[in-house]
Amino acid sequence: MDSNLIEVKNLKKYYNSRIGPVKAVDNVNLEIKKGETFGIVGESGCGKTTLMKSILQLIKPTSGEIIFEEIDICQIDKKELRRLRKIMGFVSQDPHASLNPRMTVFDTLSRPLKIHKITRSKEDTIIKIVTLLKEMGLQTEHLIRFPHELSGGQKQRIGIARALAVHPEIIFLDEPTSALDVSVQTKILKLLEKAKKDFDLTYFYISHNINLIKVISDRIGVMYLGKIVEIGRTDIIYNNPKHPYTKGLFKSIPNPDPDKKIEKIYLKGEVPSPVNTPTGCNFRRRCDHASKICEEEEPELKKLDDGREVACHLY
Ligand SMILES: Nc1ncnc2c1ncn2[C@@H]1O[C@H](COP(=O)(O)OP(=O)(O)OP(=O)(O)O)[C@@H](O)[C@H]1O
Ligand SMILES: [Mg+2]
Repeated sequence: MDSNLIEVKNLKKYYNSRIGPVKAVDNVNLEIKKGETFGIVGESGCGKTTLMKSILQLIKPTSGEIIFEEIDICQIDKKELRRLRKIMGFVSQDPHASLNPRMTVFDTLSRPLKIHKITRSKEDTIIKIVTLLKEMGLQTEHLIRFPHELSGGQKQRIGIARALAVHPEIIFLDEPTSALDVSVQTKILKLLEKAKKDFDLTYFYISHNINLIKVISDRIGVMYLGKIVEIGRTDIIYNNPKHPYTKGLFKSIPNPDPDKKIEKIYLKGEVPSPVNTPTGCNFRRRCDHASKICEEEEPELKKLDDGREVACHLY
């Protein structure tokens, strides 16, 4: 699990807005290793979806490089991009919006098979789709349904089946279970785990649910205001978070005991606007340890002895 499948270098995505550039992804560096589940965790609006879509070339990054098979995929042409769409699957955050309302489940699933020439005949396609559906815990009767005739969990399963259909090497999953209730969530996670083993997949998994990310990821990147503030092995970071933001985020895990309804939020203040980010360290106004250097110098990711990297002047 040590070779890099994808390397993200100095990636930036700034959106234009009337009040100035929105720094949604601001100089992100990371590697996705072959065979791992890499988790991205961070609060709403920190740039998780933008990071994922920029890596996938679904939106054009402002600058930076994404190295895959020794090539910067930000520079490739349409034909190569089509090949990439087969290798890199994507399951969107919103199961309701990701399916075409005018296409039946069969059409939705057969389309990528045709585009990428996975199956050779109509019979081949039908067999492949029925097998996929079964693997997803759905039945043949679902084939003739339209998205509005499916539940949220069923739609999400179709989204995952569509991603799996073309035998990708990596699947990017953007909160694939956040819109679903807990029992369906558990089923889908099991399904993903099985598919990962069966097809030798790599996952890039976004969630703001720190309990979930802890269970499923081999390594994680903690994101705050467009930047990775801590990155490394999940067990190392969870056992001993170093960045003050990671510490605060982990402490604000909702209390699992339903009798104690109060959710502990240890992070003070609000996330600043990604348009007007503070000088120096982005997190300093919410940080109990902030000193003069944090105002003046932006901390860079620094590797600690245990192999994790952290962007904080304390280290
Ligand atoms: N098309 C856009 N134009 C301008 N700003 C955008 C656009 N898309 C996202 N943003 C802004 O970029 C920042 C990052 O958004 P993004 O959707 O990547 O966050 P996220 O971490 O995925 O959040 P969530 O957990 O809510 O899905 C936010 O401040 C958001 O308002
Ligand atoms: Mg998002």
